Amino acid sequence: MTDIARSTRVVRTRAELREALGGLPRPIGFVPTMGWLHVGHRSLMQRARAEDATTVVSIFVNPRQFGAPSDLEQYPRAEARDVEICAEEGVALVFAPAVEEVYPPGFDTTVSVGAVARPLEGAARPGHFEGVATVVAVLFNLVGAERAYFGRKDYQQLLVIRQMARDLAIATEVVGLPTVRAPDGLAVSSRNVHLSPAERVAAPVVHRALAGAVAAWQRGERSADALRRMMSDALAGEPLANPEYVSVADARTLRELEVVEAPALLSTAVRFGSTRLIDNEPLE
Ligand code: PAJ
Repeated sequence: MTDIARSTRVVRTRAELREALGGLPRPIGFVPTMGWLHVGHRSLMQRARAEDATTVVSIFVNPRQFGAPSDLEQYPRAEARDVEICAEEGVALVFAPAVEEVYPPGFDTTVSVGAVARPLEGAARPGHFEGVATVVAVLFNLVGAERAYFGRKDYQQLLVIRQMARDLAIATEVVGLPTVRAPDGLAVSSRNVHLSPAERVAAPVVHRALAGAVAAWQRGERSADALRRMMSDALAGEPLANPEYVSVADARTLRELEVVEAPALLSTAVRFGSTRLIDNEPLE
């Protein structure tokens, strides 16, 4: 490890976390993650570092937000490398707890967000957002940060967490940041490692489909159905892409639109083999 790496402290228990937080300058910026850190996560850490006196990152693969056990088991993990990345980004503290530390024996509460958690990913992945909202509520309470940073790549997750924090009177401000993409447009994601070489070549069609609809909207197209059809047609042109949904929704409520009046959100979930990718573009 490098010299900088040694300045990042890794803690694993609630007690160690509380003790470490006591000695760190405020405000604290918090970046919750599931590890396998990449440039998308780095962009969140960089914003925290610019805005806050201390950056705290959590690395926790949250079993409650996965559906199939195989999905949880296959989730990539590389903690030593993750800690080095945190060190490079000037992160003071990494919280990397075991499952029992986040969910101690007897843990029996679920945080269930309403309407905004129901469509799209909520419909496609039952229980997913309950798992996300529950873990983020616990982490927010343990870290007690002034601000927490999330990627708009997971746009619905951002809305769900905002709603949860507001309703539960959690003082942490929820900040959303732009999606980091590969040069060919593919949104960077931990799941991209599971793409075969052929699937990786095909995957940028997801962003091309969104970008095509954004361009049509910019030229004046306001029919949501026309925009959905454009995205579906673009995805249908790629044999390896199996679309799950294409959506043109109100950007605040995620209710499907008939006529697009900004702000709206284009979003899609597409399978390539067993790998499920999501992406979105705002219309604003
Ligand atoms: P994870 O997938 O590790 O993502 C952690 C954060 O990084 C999320 O806010 C996500 O939106 C953001 N992120 C991922 N890819 C990004 C990209 N290409 N550009 C910008 N930001 C990106 O999301 C989770 O973990 C979990 O659900 C979590 C919130 C940690 C709760 O378990």
